[in-house]
Amino acid sequence: MPRNPDEQALIERFSRTYAHLSSSDTMLEIERAVCGCDYGCTSWTTKDETRQIVELLDLKPGRRLLDIGSGSGWPGLYLAQVSGCDSVLTDLPFEGLKVAKQRAQKDGLNDTCQIAQADGTALPFQEASFDAIYHSDVLCCLVEKQAVLEQCRQVIAADGKMVFSVILIAPDLSAADYRQAAAGGPTFIETDTPYPDMLEQTGWQITEHIDQTADYAETFAKMFELEKANKDEFVRVHGEEGATSLLERRQATLDALQKNFLRRELFGVVAKG
Ligand SMILES: C[S@@+](CC[C@H](N)C(=O)[O-])C[C@H]1O[C@@H](n2cnc3c(N)ncnc32)[C@H](O)[C@@H]1O
Repeated sequence: MPRNPDEQALIERFSRTYAHLSSSDTMLEIERAVCGCDYGCTSWTTKDETRQIVELLDLKPGRRLLDIGSGSGWPGLYLAQVSGCDSVLTDLPFEGLKVAKQRAQKDGLNDTCQIAQADGTALPFQEASFDAIYHSDVLCCLVEKQAVLEQCRQVIAADGKMVFSVILIAPDLSAADYRQAAAGGPTFIETDTPYPDMLEQTGWQITEHIDQTADYAETFAKMFELEKANKDEFVRVHGEEGATSLLERRQATLDALQKNFLRRELFGVVAKG
């Protein structure tokens, strides 16, 4: 599926971010303090949340996990490490995949983990080839959300499970509040179709629907505080222009979160029979 220029620009931004974050001791230290991990992550999945994911996906040796939009390896590599499952990590930014490959090697996961550059809207895998699928805050970073859900439905085994988190705009906002929410959220947060309807239309049945907004707001506020406290390194990592626009965006997110205009939800789904 063709990517529009804004999507392509976002992928390029992610690529630069993965290369820079993973090579900054200070940024990795912040990530450890806030999310409990040190992969150079860009989602809001914390180490605590991964315990829930292992359980919901029933991850264990012999099961095959697909992580879509896996960035620099979080949390796919960690889920594989703690559960012993086999894993396939996919994303578009090459720099992230390179960092993930090095981390897989360092963590002794080379034999059970494959890493491939692939678009979530056109997965290069056979039907029913995964027992579990996970993606963290990925659908709010791309336009063709429904196409990704359709592709996931194709590659999941009949008794497989998918879990994903997504950031979304709170329902029933006034036009002005909606605009503030959209400006504070991830680039492609907007969708005309609510996620439950999208899942229904793409052949999925919801088994879990968990509100993670409070955890997200807390994690976000801590991260933003530490980034501001380490501004020099933040600027070195993201560049002068990148850091300015990212800090402005962070402030817009914080404002929207404080007004309860943004939500983060976790869905657990299985294929409809
Ligand atoms: C919020 S980041 C999460 C990355 C990683 N899982 C983490 O937790 O750090 C969203 C990811 O979605 C990826 N993404 C965006 N569009 C995509 C697409 N069409 N196919 C696959 N991944 C995509 C981005 O490259 C980015 O790495």
